[in-house]
Amino acid sequence: MPHKPLVFSGIQPTGNLHLGNYLGAIRNWIGLQAQHECMFCVVDLHALTGDFLDPALLNTATRRVAAAYIASGIDPAKSIIFNQSQVPAHAELAWIFNCVARVGWLNRMTQFKDKAGKDRERASAGLYVYPNLMAADVLLYKATHVPVGEDQKQHLELMRDIAQKFNNDYGVPEFFPLPEPLIMGPATRVMSLRDGTAKMSKSDPSETSRILLSDPPERIVEKIRKARTDPAPLPDSVEGLAGRAEADNLVAIYAALSGETKATVVARYAGALFSRFKEDLGERLVSVLAPIRAEMLRLEDDPSHINRILAEGSARARARAAPVLQDVFDIVGFVKAER
Ligand code: TYM
Repeated sequence: MPHKPLVFSGIQPTGNLHLGNYLGAIRNWIGLQAQHECMFCVVDLHALTGDFLDPALLNTATRRVAAAYIASGIDPAKSIIFNQSQVPAHAELAWIFNCVARVGWLNRMTQFKDKAGKDRERASAGLYVYPNLMAADVLLYKATHVPVGEDQKQHLELMRDIAQKFNNDYGVPEFFPLPEPLIMGPATRVMSLRDGTAKMSKSDPSETSRILLSDPPERIVEKIRKARTDPAPLPDSVEGLAGRAEADNLVAIYAALSGETKATVVARYAGALFSRFKEDLGERLVSVLAPIRAEMLRLEDDPSHINRILAEGSARARARAAPVLQDVFDIVGFVKAER
């Protein structure tokens, strides 16, 4: 039984969105929206897995992520935009997947190791089973394609293992699809502006390591100007970027913004100084991000409008989730309480 194409992705409302979230994920969603049915989730259940999160911050960040989706070009009339907590079936299916996934599989997750750090005993149990909830997010709708950044690849592999094991154990071949990761474009792993070997992330203590979608234009230009590079000029081929992590990162960012390949960008700037390249890059960033920021600010000014969009999206999501969860309940053998 071939599954109908459906795109699903999500972002955690745990802080301000940065350029990595935009180039690795959101920007790619816009193109997909034109061709496929899509669901874009604000994963507020996942947001609780880290350190204690101030409820007021979670509340604001949830609306802010939704605003970023819309401001970037996701159309709520077309795609379903919703927050995970409003569809209880995510947590219900996640429980079943907690019982399908093996401890050995979860022990291999590098993101858990990174996020838990040295003191693993203190990590939340939720952080440990995080990938099972992520599998539930996608499989609850039998979604087939998951556009994400490179750092989510291992979680996607685990998701496929869960789907496969469920289908095998219960003798329901092809009940769940095996979702395909879509890791697209030249900036699937945007690196820190301070250290080309570290991923750009919400949790980096250095503010100048990342560009935020909420940064005003002059801040963007300043962060790019200060971005670390080596003293050599731009090379004349992509091979010349090897071993130059910071240079490679800036070229990848430029290419993702201009819709070109890194090879085209390098060919244009061969031999140029980074000071000049950074000026152009800063300009490009501002031309893409300033309108998004302005629209986000406008949207955030009217929280009830975003609340309504999330409420509508959640209702649509609940309607889609219900029959799949009922099938799962029947498959695993839960007795339906009839009145
Ligand atoms: P999160 O919230 O950490 O990140 C959201 C998206 O941004 C991408 N990303 C990056 N891409 C390129 N370079 C970077 N430096 C960078 N940093 C982050 C991530 O790959 C992601 O696509 N587990 C997910 C959220 C999630 C989800 C899902 C995603 C929950 N359920 C179901 C897809 C489908 C996460 O923590 O993303």
